[in-house]
Amino acid sequence: MKNYLNINELDNLQTTVQEAIELKKNPMKYKSLGEDKTICLLFFNNSLRTRLSTQKAAQNLGLNAVVMNFGSEGWQLEYEDGTIMNEGKSEHVIEAAKVVSQYCDIVAIRAFASLTDKEQDEAEIVLNNFKKYANVPVVNLESSIGHPLQCLADAITMEEHKTTHKPKVVLSWAPHPKSLPHAVANSFIEMMQLQDADFVITHPEGYDLSPEIVKDSKVEYDQEKAFENADFVYTKNWSSYTDYGKVLRTDDEWMITGDKMKLTNNAKFMHCLPVRRNVVVADEVIDSENSLVIEQANNRTYSAQIVLKKILERK
Ligand code: CP
Repeated sequence: MKNYLNINELDNLQTTVQEAIELKKNPMKYKSLGEDKTICLLFFNNSLRTRLSTQKAAQNLGLNAVVMNFGSEGWQLEYEDGTIMNEGKSEHVIEAAKVVSQYCDIVAIRAFASLTDKEQDEAEIVLNNFKKYANVPVVNLESSIGHPLQCLADAITMEEHKTTHKPKVVLSWAPHPKSLPHAVANSFIEMMQLQDADFVITHPEGYDLSPEIVKDSKVEYDQEKAFENADFVYTKNWSSYTDYGKVLRTDDEWMITGDKMKLTNNAKFMHCLPVRRNVVVADEVIDSENSLVIEQANNRTYSAQIVLKKILERK
């Protein structure tokens, strides 16, 4: 594998999930693979899980990890070609990507959506310009439109906890006071489209995701109907896509509660974290034995590690 920008870069999701589960049993098995090699992790936005789990994954493979909070500590980058740079931007991505490539063997980047300019966000200007100008493989640590390490961790977690060959999986929108990106939901949908599952997306009217992502996945606007007989409830907030970046409602009608979970087939509760308790999900659900949120976060290490392993092996 050359780059990991999207879940579809994997040759085979199911095989990769099994490989990650094997790796989890013996995480230090490939400790010499990354010897004398370096990964640069560039964060244009905040992180807890992605930052620590990717460093841990690198360490397990013997890779040296160099981390930079690019958003707060780096020069402001210009991405337009042919610009006269006489305003705020100090450095062009052309030089930045080529310079970073000299310091590492893999570059991994987190750069969220602005949620103010749909066209610019969908162009994935940070990730795609690094891909264009870097001389080393590029890994997506969450971009404007995707979070492929998260959805791979989610696939690993579901594989470990499923009790039926073809589970019913519900992706449910839940309320949040702030405008949040679509990346986690997008990647979860793309991952579920590669699974043998009864998959349903549920959200209020006005929160439809990009038709290019949703394709023919089932959408149900009645949350309680969607929850019936579910085996997994994956919850995430996202802002409006059609009224781009807007928060259309913050009432608690769509919060995940114990009563709603009673409609399911004793479903496991999933969320990528961070999560606002008693806004997105009630304490009684996230604290229940059916909550997988800590397992999901743990599997971030193994999703990152299997991806870095494949890049190092060029498989
Ligand atoms: N789930 C996730 O990506 O967490 P962080 O934003 O803390 O990295």
